[in-house]
Order: sequence, then structure tokens, then C-alpha cells
Amino acid sequence: QVLFRTVPLTPSLLLCISLTFLSCLCFSPTDGINITAEPGQNVNLTCRAAKNGEVKVLKLIRVGLDPVYVLLYRNNRIDETVKNPQFQDRISLQYLSTADGEVNVTLSNVTENDSGTYLCKVMDKMYLQTINHLHVAREGECFCSG
Ligand SMILES: *[C@@H]1O[C@H](CO)[C@@H](O)[C@H](O)[C@H]1NC(C)=O
Ligand SMILES: *[C@@H]1O[C@H](CO)[C@@H](O)[C@H](O)[C@H]1NC(C)=O
Ligand SMILES: *[C@@H]1O[C@H](CO)[C@@H](O)[C@H](O)[C@H]1NC(C)=O
Ligand SMILES: *[C@@H]1O[C@H](CO)[C@@H](O)[C@H](O)[C@H]1NC(C)=O
Ligand SMILES: *[C@@H]1O[C@H](CO)[C@@H](O)[C@H](O)[C@H]1NC(C)=O
Repeated sequence: QVLFRTVPLTPSLLLCISLTFLSCLCFSPTDGINITAEPGQNVNLTCRAAKNGEVKVLKLIRVGLDPVYVLLYRNNRIDETVKNPQFQDRISLQYLSTADGEVNVTLSNVTENDSGTYLCKVMDKMYLQTINHLHVAREGECFCSG
């Protein structure tokens, strides 16, 4: 019965299958871009995109935020109905062409309450997701570097 001949499950095939699942379903907390800032600063959350594309849809969410959207851009405009009030008037989208293969979303005047993991999904020629971990110092805390 040729039709039902099974492919032998070799160890490397099993590893390949499990790696495929892991990379689809999980992201590790060590993945992504780390951003540190002091209260009052402006930060860029970076969204990877296909090079030389035009952003059609951009979704920026923060893990655990309710409502979850920080920014939703689609149909050639920012959808004001789904914006989280915490980010009202503090968020702006930098350029919609993706010449460099990335688009920045600028969050201004950050506070400690903006800290968290942001997932940015961009649809231009393809669909890409970027993880940004933002850590804003508490008032009075400092990142004493150097
Ligand atoms: C980001 O921080 C995590 C731990 O906080 C670290 O494991 C990871 O390597 C950092 N990533 C980069 C790109 O620096
Ligand atoms: C954020 O990115 C924009 C361009 O995308 C740049 O003009 C600006 O200086 C950047 N701001 C910060 C705080 O890095
Ligand atoms: C996006 O922001 C980052 C960090 O501020 C900066 O290094 C990068 O050049 C910016 N990218 C673009 C396309 O402006
Ligand atoms: C930044 O936010 C703080 C409150 O978090 C506010 O008091 C201050 O006026 C804001 N600054 C600007 C320039 O919007
Ligand atoms: C952060 O959120 C807490 C609880 O909602 C609030 O009491 C506090 O004033 C906020 N801090 C800043 C700097 O906005």
C-alpha cells in the first residue's frame, strides 16, 4: 500500500517539527529589543517591516494592557476608536514607507507605567512581528551606567 506508507520519524525530523512549533507559538523573554528610559523621555518602539514597502496595517499592542491596543493603523489612518487612553496624544507613527526595513512608533513623555512588552505587527509586503521591552525608571531611580 504505497499511499499509506508512513514517513519514518527520525530524531532530526522530530526536532525539526518541535522547533517549528516552538518558533510559531512562543517567544522567549530574552527575544526582542530592550529599551531603557527615564521618565519624561521620548522613546522609539521599533517595528520591523519588509524593505521598501508601504505599511498597510500596523498593530501595536502591549502585553497585559486592557484595552490591549496602543496603536492601530489601517485603511490609511490611525484608528482612534481603539486607542488606549493611557497613550492619548503621546504616540506618533514615524513615516509609512519602510525603506530601511523598519518603522518607528514614538512614545513621548514616558512614565514608569509605560514599562512592559510591546508587540508590533506590520503588514506591508509580508507580516512581521517585533518585540520591544520597555523599562522606564521610577521617579528618582537611576540607571547608573559607566
Ligand atoms: C534583553 O534583556 C534580556 C534580559 O533582561 C537579555 O537576556 C537579552 O539578551 C537582552 N537582549 C538584548 C538584545 O540585549
Ligand atoms: C525616533 O525615530 C525617529 C525617526 O524614525 C527619529 O527622528 C527620532 O530621533 C527617534 N527618537 C528617538 C528618541 O530615538
Ligand atoms: C528607529 O529608532 C531607533 C531608536 O531610536 C533608531 O536607532 C533608528 O534609526 C530608527 N529607525 C528609523 C527608520 O528611523
Ligand atoms: C509629561 O507627563 C507628566 C505626567 O506624567 C506631566 O506632568 C507633564 O506635563 C508632561 N510633560 C509634557 C511635556 O507633556
Ligand atoms: C501609574 O499608575 C498608578 C496606578 O494607576 C498611578 O497611581 C500613578 O500616578 C501612575 N504614575 C504615573 C507617573 O503616571
